[in-house]
Amino acid sequence: METVIVTGGAGFIGSHLCARLLDMGYKVIAIDSLITSNGKNVDQLKENDNFQFIHQDVTLPLAEELNADYVFHLASPASPNHHSEISYHKLAMETMMVNTTGTHQLLDFALRNNAKFLFASTSEVYGDPLQHPQKETYNGNVSTTGPRSVYDEAKRFGETLVAYYCREKNLDARIIRIFNTYGPNMNMKDMRMLIVFILQALKGQSITIFGDGSQTRSLCYVSDTVEGMIKLMFGSDTRGEIVNIGSPEEHTILEYATMVKNLVNADVKIEFSEALPQNDPLRRQPDITKAKQLLNWEPRVSLEEGLRKTIDYFKSELLPEIK
Ligand SMILES: NC(=O)c1ccc[n+]([C@@H]2O[C@H](COP(=O)([O-])OP(=O)(O)OC[C@H]3O[C@@H](n4cnc5c(N)ncnc54)[C@H](O)[C@@H]3O)[C@@H](O)[C@H]2O)c1
Repeated sequence: METVIVTGGAGFIGSHLCARLLDMGYKVIAIDSLITSNGKNVDQLKENDNFQFIHQDVTLPLAEELNADYVFHLASPASPNHHSEISYHKLAMETMMVNTTGTHQLLDFALRNNAKFLFASTSEVYGDPLQHPQKETYNGNVSTTGPRSVYDEAKRFGETLVAYYCREKNLDARIIRIFNTYGPNMNMKDMRMLIVFILQALKGQSITIFGDGSQTRSLCYVSDTVEGMIKLMFGSDTRGEIVNIGSPEEHTILEYATMVKNLVNADVKIEFSEALPQNDPLRRQPDITKAKQLLNWEPRVSLEEGLRKTIDYFKSELLPEIK
């Protein structure tokens, strides 16, 4: 049986990836420091004999006796919201180190083990893009010193390390640039737009929109993102490739708020607040031509289906509060 390491395996996307890999018949080792999660996402997985959880910071070397055939490196704070206690702004040093020192440690580990490697990068490497939608060949428009640089530039340097190990050390590695993803197991503390809307609607509070709601976002359901990761790791001809994974389907913020309100069946108002929040996430839209051609991948889950599952998850999380 082949062994897969998933760093950040207790997080939102990582926990879904671990479940999928167990279904595929792999032995899965999730390594997580629990800095932005609490371990709850993998409680059920622990009942599976092929699952192992290691509580560790991956900026530190992995145990000598650990072996693996594949390494998915997802560990990193990921929330862009300044107000969230788990955001990469609040965890700036940790974010910079896990994507650089951590990536370096894990690349060395993969090299020693002759393991295949996948680095979870982000659409944020495109910064404030001057090209829409963004293709993998676009080099981005990123500040090296701005507030978001702790995340954006750390991911960019992580990519540089992966490309170097691939080119100079012959490591079988690839990079996925993940665009906004949503679904069950998202951390309530993350405070992304969709989480806030769902929580407000479930608690019977007004849904608050900053600005006039005409800004657009594209969101990909987590099982689609995970499928993209699986295809990129296990597919043929993916060595050294960089691939965007995300949904190109754009909706306005007002459309998201209205869908959430209707699906929750909440008798709540949608309110507009004049001020745009500081550091409002920027509009990005993936060009997924490469994912379609190389991986035969495109998002399959409709927004309505994805929202229903996400709302059900938060409903069960909030149950003691709402009834
Ligand atoms: N969620 C998205 O929309 C999105 C978009 C683009 C990229 N990504 C990337 O995908 C990956 C997973 O994101 P997520 O949304 O699941 O975030 P998450 O915060 O839910 O999960 C990340 C996990 O990494 C762990 N972690 C952080 N630093 C660590 C360290 N030093 N050692 C060990 N574990 C550590 C956290 O405890 C957490 O469980 C991240 O690398 C993120 O940058 C996510």
